[in-house]
Amino acid sequence: MILKLDHIYKDYNTGKLVVPVLHDVSLHVEEGEYVAIMGPSGSGKSTLMNIIGCLDRPTSGSYELNGENVLNKDDRSMAEIRLRNLGFVFQNFQLLPKQSALENVALPLVYAGVRRRERQRRAAEALTSVGLQDRMNFQPSQLSGGQKQRVAIARAMVNKPRLLLADEPTGALDSHSSIELMKLFQRLNDDGVTIVMITHSPDIAAYARRTCDIFDGVISERRSGHINAAQRAEKEAEEEAERALARMRQASRRREQTGGLA
Ligand SMILES: Nc1ncnc2c1ncn2[C@@H]1O[C@H](COP(=O)(O)OP(=O)(O)OP(=O)(O)O)[C@@H](O)[C@H]1O
Ligand SMILES: [Mg+2]
Repeated sequence: MILKLDHIYKDYNTGKLVVPVLHDVSLHVEEGEYVAIMGPSGSGKSTLMNIIGCLDRPTSGSYELNGENVLNKDDRSMAEIRLRNLGFVFQNFQLLPKQSALENVALPLVYAGVRRRERQRRAAEALTSVGLQDRMNFQPSQLSGGQKQRVAIARAMVNKPRLLLADEPTGALDSHSSIELMKLFQRLNDDGVTIVMITHSPDIAAYARRTCDIFDGVISERRSGHINAAQRAEKEAEEEAERALARMRQASRRREQTGGLA
């Protein structure tokens, strides 16, 4: 199991006030899964994502990532775990504005201590895999939203993490770019990358194979009638084929009835 969160509680301490946000959240994700987390604004999605992403610690509960207890580690070891296991994609891309696409993608490799030439080679490879080979030297301001998000994905994947975490990855994209992004996620998942994605959109959640709902910091598994986009396309194609067959049968019956004159 790649993710194992059990009985997670999270309160924020704001001086006098304690704000309880997550209540007894348990979430188990197997290697290779593609999970969507849906919930209204303020329900605790980003709070949960920050804990999964080792960017924040819960108030109580346990969390194992790849079988390793991450909560008893100091901040430095947590950063190390993050670098080794996780890729992040955010709604607002979080690219460095003055750096080229190539430099942005190469950044995690700087932290990983990879040498410059190798960094450039790997960053170029990652950008090519998201179709941005002709935009390597562009700065974020010279890229479209969809292209910026693809740079962010290349950056997330350059260390070859096993788990991709995405917080509203299509939140700032139009529907066409969103679909392109979901195709890219699908490809990564087909290649074995585990994905946990937060989204407001049921259409986007439909690309995942499993959906969890979070309301007021309480998580629940959605069980009914959830099919992913690939299954839906397959079902629509089957239905269309059935309709075509029915039309052919009807036409042939009509020919029989009219003695072949229709
Ligand atoms: N650092 C903080 N200190 C105090 N309260 C916080 C802090 N961060 C978040 N909260 C509170 O926790 C709750 C959940 O916030 P969170 O960002 O997890 O929501 P969300 O589900 O991601 O919402 P959205 O869909 O709007 O991004 C909110 O009520 C928010 O006010
Ligand atoms: Mg959020």
